[in-house]
Amino acid sequence: MIQTDLAIGLINPKFPHNVGAAVRAASCYGASHLFYTGDRIDEALVELKRLPREERMKGYRDVKWQRQEKFLELFDADIVPVAVELRPQAETLFDFVHPPRAVYIFGPEDGSLEPGILASCHRFIVIPTAHCLNLAAAVNVVLYDRTLKQHLSKNGLAWWS
Ligand SMILES: C[S@@+](CC[C@H](N)C(=O)[O-])C[C@H]1O[C@@H](n2cnc3c(N)ncnc32)[C@H](O)[C@@H]1O
Repeated sequence: MIQTDLAIGLINPKFPHNVGAAVRAASCYGASHLFYTGDRIDEALVELKRLPREERMKGYRDVKWQRQEKFLELFDADIVPVAVELRPQAETLFDFVHPPRAVYIFGPEDGSLEPGILASCHRFIVIPTAHCLNLAAAVNVVLYDRTLKQHLSKNGLAWWS
């Protein structure tokens, strides 16, 4: 079992540069693991050999990233799977109180999270934007929001603390 407070799941991502940028975000905000599903990244890596520069910067080696189809099974039951998707019933990120231990799950660049993975999630958030964000941008926004709210909470500045 993986013991962590923060991890990322990318469902069937299409572009290696987005996975690389998400690994970078994971490292910047202290996520220990990034899992991705699907075969598109591995197919692209046959030619590219490795992810774009983001993933190769040595400061980011603290993030364990790998393809893993059933990555949720690796976590203990106390971690909360949070679906990040444009869904009408989702909680807005503005008001979202992040679980102390969470794995944030994002959909592909050319699709959305499917019912199978949504059924495994316990919380659902939407980032209030006029249009869909780029995948890596969405990862950065969610992790920044979590970090900011932890900071506010620690300093007694938040309504939810
Ligand atoms: C580029 S978007 C998906 C594209 C979109 N479904 C389409 O093809 O029309 C990739 C992923 O980023 C996340 N995402 C992007 N913008 C978002 C937003 N405003 N709120 C929540 N998630 C978002 C979701 O996880 C989404 O599946």
